[in-house]
Amino acid sequence: MPEVGKAREDAISALRRGVESGLTHIDTAEMYGRAEELICDALEGINREELFIVSKVLPSNATYTGTIEALERSLKRLKLDYLDCYLLHWRGNIPLADTLAAMEKLQKDGKIKSFGVSNFDVEDLKEALGCLSFGKLACNQVLYNLGNRGIERNLIPFCQKNDIALVGYTPFGTSPGAKTEEYKQMSTVAKAHGATVQQVLLAFLTRLDGTFTIPKASTVKHVEENAGALKLDLTPKDLELIDSLYPAPKRDVPLGMI
Ligand SMILES: NC(=O)c1ccc[n+]([C@@H]2O[C@H](COP(=O)([O-])OP(=O)(O)OC[C@H]3O[C@@H](n4cnc5c(N)ncnc54)[C@H](OP(=O)(O)O)[C@@H]3O)[C@@H](O)[C@H]2O)c1
Repeated sequence: MPEVGKAREDAISALRRGVESGLTHIDTAEMYGRAEELICDALEGINREELFIVSKVLPSNATYTGTIEALERSLKRLKLDYLDCYLLHWRGNIPLADTLAAMEKLQKDGKIKSFGVSNFDVEDLKEALGCLSFGKLACNQVLYNLGNRGIERNLIPFCQKNDIALVGYTPFGTSPGAKTEEYKQMSTVAKAHGATVQQVLLAFLTRLDGTFTIPKASTVKHVEENAGALKLDLTPKDLELIDSLYPAPKRDVPLGMI
């Protein structure tokens, strides 16, 4: 998110407009520059209970005590006394058991309501599940857009089976370029619903049970457009067409990450 000047003010307005429109899941991380401070300023005066705030610990900080200290720093920047969900940003060299033991302790102490992981494929998730003493993995946040549908083969079914929410990031990462045949066809789908191509993308990426998406928008115009996707129901014919334009891979592929 923009950190200074008018662009920062616009981003604050965008976040506030998003919350008013029902986009109450706010994703940040200790890695995202001064985003946590920006969120703190944006959410001033909004009822905390309406919000679902997620942050992430960097793998290099994710020892047992490092995770607890990183959470405290995030809470301080956000001026909050708890997070709704806390994630390990990606898997590093520190044993998962240490990070997850810290997550369980933080949950027990009321500092986080839930915890999860990010950029984990099936084998990593299995290992993480095996490390838990009493807690539960709330979610796995991974790259998911039209050009990165490999997770539909194994990862999404595994998450559904284990009641782990799949939070897709960078939904607009592969968007049809203007003037392409794909754009023309996606526009036809959009127009039939009185929607935009971006709204169609968001609806497509949240069509499967237990899948969510977290578009980033730092302007009111984009936030309003994205919130409008909540009302959009694609038909089986629309889904079939999008599937043919951007097919999922026919064989297993490594999990994408940016
Ligand atoms: N866990 C991870 O490793 C990881 C990695 C990457 C991202 N993420 C998370 O995922 C979020 C989203 O990912 P992202 O920022 O990489 O990609 P994204 O949400 O796919 O794309 C963001 C871009 O799309 C633009 N945009 C938003 N709404 C639009 C609309 N309706 N029409 C046209 N353009 C629109 C934004 O512009 P404006 O800003 O100008 O509105 C921005 O340039 C991040 O903010 C972060 O929280 C997580």
